[in-house]
Amino acid sequence: MALVFTWGCGHAAGVGRRGAAPSLEAVSLREALERRATTRCFRPGSPLSDETLRQILWAAEGTNRGGRDESRRTSPCSFRERTITLYLATREGVFLHEPAAGTLRKVADRDARTGSSRLLRDRRAPVVLWMVGDVETLRSAASRAGYRLDPAQTMAVLWADAAVIAENVHLACAALGVGAGIIADLDADWIRDTLGLDRAHVPVLAMALGMPAATDGDAAAMECPQDATEGP
Ligand SMILES: Cc1cc2nc3c(=O)[nH]c(=O)nc-3n(C[C@H](O)[C@H](O)[C@H](O)COP(=O)(O)O)c2cc1C
Repeated sequence: MALVFTWGCGHAAGVGRRGAAPSLEAVSLREALERRATTRCFRPGSPLSDETLRQILWAAEGTNRGGRDESRRTSPCSFRERTITLYLATREGVFLHEPAAGTLRKVADRDARTGSSRLLRDRRAPVVLWMVGDVETLRSAASRAGYRLDPAQTMAVLWADAAVIAENVHLACAALGVGAGIIADLDADWIRDTLGLDRAHVPVLAMALGMPAATDGDAAAMECPQDATEGP
């Protein structure tokens, strides 16, 4: 992975600063599939390292097949066009992922995590990955391929494009020991307002990411108890 991971202000993101990070290379696909599960309750005070985020974002939409062509990515896409843009909402602000360079650029200063879904209010996720679809980009690409998509078809394709990214993220997180959960119930206007986007941009899915909290019951339980502080 010849990616440089820098934050929006341009400094190197501290790869390796925290010692040996978990690596995608260390876990087989079989093992990642075995471990994959939805996490809905995250351990407070356990941020994800830059290196962990870099690996998750590479799995989501990084360049692959040698990196010679930036349109070749780890996830497939409809009409040979990238219609989904990824943003990371963190305590420090919201960052746009630039997959060809493997960089993050700060695009909003506020902590917009919990405002993006009512489901996120109690989950304590340190990072929320937003997947925002671009209707015009999709319609243009479809048109070039000879298709005219109606609104329902447009949304179905955006969902599919987001869902394949989501599964890559799920598997990477499982391999890295990170908890992840898809959220479809989003406040689209909040996300658009935060990013300054118009209605041709549709927040399709989000994923809460972080270290799983230990809970008394099933780790995938819908509830996140107030006293869930320790990890497994
Ligand atoms: C398209 C999609 C949307 C989902 N939306 C939500 C959601 O809004 N809230 C939530 O808690 N889980 C959501 N999930 C997670 C599912 O509830 C979860 O995958 C399912 O219960 C199976 O559990 P598992 O992932 O642990 O195997 C979603 C999953 C998918 C694929």
